[in-house]
Amino acid sequence: MPVRINPSILSADFVNFESELQRVRGADLIHVDVMDNHFVPNLTFGLTMVQRLQAVTPRPLDVHLMLEDPDRWAPGYAEAGAYSVTFHAEATEHPVELARTLRQIGARAGLAVKPGTEIEKYLDIVGEFDQILVMTVEPGFGGQTFIGATMPKLVALRELVSRGGQDIWLQVDGGINEKTIEIAAAAGADTFVAGSSVFGAADPELAIVALREAATAHVH
Ligand code: DX5
Ligand code: ZN
Repeated sequence: MPVRINPSILSADFVNFESELQRVRGADLIHVDVMDNHFVPNLTFGLTMVQRLQAVTPRPLDVHLMLEDPDRWAPGYAEAGAYSVTFHAEATEHPVELARTLRQIGARAGLAVKPGTEIEKYLDIVGEFDQILVMTVEPGFGGQTFIGATMPKLVALRELVSRGGQDIWLQVDGGINEKTIEIAAAAGADTFVAGSSVFGAADPELAIVALREAATAHVH
């Protein structure tokens, strides 16, 4: 199974995104954390920034929306050309309708769950998505410690996705480093977001290579 390493620019220098993107040319997708200071207690940037990021990088953008009312805001990110738009299950009553809207616009649709959110409730709608994001920290900040108790969700999702035969990516986000990526890969993840372990490294390109090797050795 292919492994994807998506550096999160939340850990990059916010006034130098264009040059920061040059430091992660080995990335599969660029993970972009949109936070509204309501869904999470932190504020980053919105659609205008994502449009500019899209304009200055040839890499596909993996937009992670940590905001309230994604029904209202998410389609704009798909219209901006984001390759993937992931919204939180906890933030909407209409995940299936929103996924269909995003796909209709031409983006991949992703569903994210916080560490404390059970996955059982969503298992029957997994097929409506291109990606499921199992948060491995509480959303809001980079540099936190990986929560291993989230791994059973990945095991359940991997089993379901393998049985269904659909190409649905299983993503983890939060506290991913060379050690924890092995745990997440073994549990069933194939798509890995890494912020501080990539942008905090002396050589981000080497960090991506090391993460990819560690994941590849343990992925199913
Ligand atoms: C947290 C964000 C993550 C964050 C991960 O809410 O969704 O994408 O950048 O950062 P690290 O890899 O440092 O835990
Ligand atoms: Zn994220």
